[in-house]
Amino acid sequence: MPNFVTVAKTGDIPPGERDVFEIDGRYIAVFNVGGTYYAIEDICTHDGGPLAEGDLVDEYEIACPRHGARFDIRTGKVLSMPAVVDVSWFPVRVEGDAIQVDVEET
Ligand code: FES
Repeated sequence: MPNFVTVAKTGDIPPGERDVFEIDGRYIAVFNVGGTYYAIEDICTHDGGPLAEGDLVDEYEIACPRHGARFDIRTGKVLSMPAVVDVSWFPVRVEGDAIQVDVEET
């Protein structure tokens, strides 16, 4: 069952920005790329690096600030070493001006 939780208003995360929210004890990074929102767990699967503190490269790839592993923020798929495991990914929707994340793990 989807479990969408409001995390912020659309104006809180402008295009090109990101923010991290704690929901049910999990840290979830929400990115705005060109007006579309994406959410992944903010914990690198290599060694726990804070992904939202990394740089976005090639628009949709977040580079872990700790050792540089890359993940696709649209899917959570791992794209480069040293990480080898995907990061959790969460559906996002906008209701009115509310950004909502489905915190049921995918
Ligand atoms: S903790 Fe992210 S690449 Fe090592």
